[in-house]
Amino acid sequence: MSVSLSSSSAPVASRRRYAIVGLGSRHELYQDGIEKTHAAHAQLVGVCDSNAGRIEVARKRSAQNDAPVPPGYLAADFSRMIAETKPEVVIVVTADAAHHEYLVRAMEAGCDVITEKPMTTDAEKCQQILDACRRTGRHCRVTFNYRYSPPRSQVKDILMSGEIGEVLSVDFHWLLNTHHGADYFRRWHSRKKNSGGLLVHKSTHHFDLVNWWLGAVPVSVLANGRRQFYTPAIARRLGLSGPHERCTTCPEKQKCGFALDLSANAHLKSLYADCESYDGYFRDRCVFRADIDIEDTMNVIVGYDTGATLSYSLNAFNAWEGYTVAFNGTKGRLEHKIVESVYVNGTETVQGGIADGGVTTRVIPLRGEARELTPWTAEGDHGGGDRLMLEDIFLPSPPADKYLRAADERAGACSILVGIAANRGLETGAAVRVADLVSGVPRPDFAPMPSRDGPLPMPGRSGAH
Ligand SMILES: NC(=O)c1ccc[n+]([C@@H]2O[C@H](COP(=O)([O-])OP(=O)(O)OC[C@H]3O[C@@H](n4cnc5c(N)ncnc54)[C@H](O)[C@@H]3O)[C@@H](O)[C@H]2O)c1
Repeated sequence: MSVSLSSSSAPVASRRRYAIVGLGSRHELYQDGIEKTHAAHAQLVGVCDSNAGRIEVARKRSAQNDAPVPPGYLAADFSRMIAETKPEVVIVVTADAAHHEYLVRAMEAGCDVITEKPMTTDAEKCQQILDACRRTGRHCRVTFNYRYSPPRSQVKDILMSGEIGEVLSVDFHWLLNTHHGADYFRRWHSRKKNSGGLLVHKSTHHFDLVNWWLGAVPVSVLANGRRQFYTPAIARRLGLSGPHERCTTCPEKQKCGFALDLSANAHLKSLYADCESYDGYFRDRCVFRADIDIEDTMNVIVGYDTGATLSYSLNAFNAWEGYTVAFNGTKGRLEHKIVESVYVNGTETVQGGIADGGVTTRVIPLRGEARELTPWTAEGDHGGGDRLMLEDIFLPSPPADKYLRAADERAGACSILVGIAANRGLETGAAVRVADLVSGVPRPDFAPMPSRDGPLPMPGRSGAH
């Protein structure tokens, strides 16, 4: 069944034809990118979702964008959407566990595809996507927007320059505060079958950054993880009698510091509260529910094909939001820290303050003084990364990129396979070899990195600096 098939859309031959499946909050970036910023060379020819309400919200958005209103299709009519609207590219922005289905079907139908991260949630689905890419020859792009954030591109630039030599180990620690972190425990993300847990859903960004920063492929993974904060026991220690099902109907919402008021935010109301009747998707489920099965505290050790190692942690209930990463190289150490702020019902303030605009990056040679770097910046969401990524996607001839930030299914696989291996390791307690999960993952293209064999400068003698 299609929804309100009427459309003012008139095909414009010179513009690339896109369809979007999954019309929640993240899809707005792509819809606006097509209908506003890049309307000269892109057109939205169809939209699809399992929720008829969100289809209509997306179609209204087209009208607000002064763009032709695309026909809307329910999920069951995805194939019909492709047949009738003939997109050249399908953009997949559904909940994570459904990505593979639309990627494979769209490629089989002759379309190129673009998928939000994580590419998918488990090894079997990853294999299906890799096999479909090989079989159909279609292009699959994975939108790792974090790569495009200027300070992270700057880190890549320093590592490529060879200033700290080749990287032998990385320490990477990412913290989410109790506004942002809690949000993953409210809805579909809170079940591993939907999201792969935070080690896949969230850490795919971080594992991809390390793969790309190092120009390396992960080979072994050892993990530890637990849920110890978003639990019924913590709810009781906070003085609540719950958990209850959801904030809207919660008898204790006035005293719960984690309550989310969907009606207080027009965007959340129209996208989620007003669309609940179609599918029962509650955006404000209790973060302390017993049926949550994802971790909030995770530690992972990864070995790479270059010999480098990664020591990584993710914490989802912190007082501070941001990350620290340090690269230990044969010629020195690169330290990089970013303070992140606000999320859905967060405040505008940042606990701990934002020194230096929130970004610090410095290089410390093996001997001698540290060098502070002025952070690279850009305007826009995710530190300007989203805007730069959209240009790379939608411009007919994007500028050459010496950092090779555009990612495909190979990089998509290499990042999720660390989280998938970690999930398997959490079940067994053993280290997991990535090659045992999926067969035939081609090596991603990486920009050239410093040689691991060349001569090294002898550092000055101890105490001589
Ligand atoms: N790169 C980033 O920084 C970033 C940020 C947010 C979200 N994301 C990703 O974007 C995707 C969507 O996230 P969101 O926050 O918009 O979630 P959301 O819950 O707001 O939206 C998901 C949409 O998909 C629809 N959907 C779910 N299952 C479906 C199915 N089987 N068929 C068709 N439609 C289906 C839902 O009805 C909903 O409209 C996720 O993969 C997420 O990981 C990426």
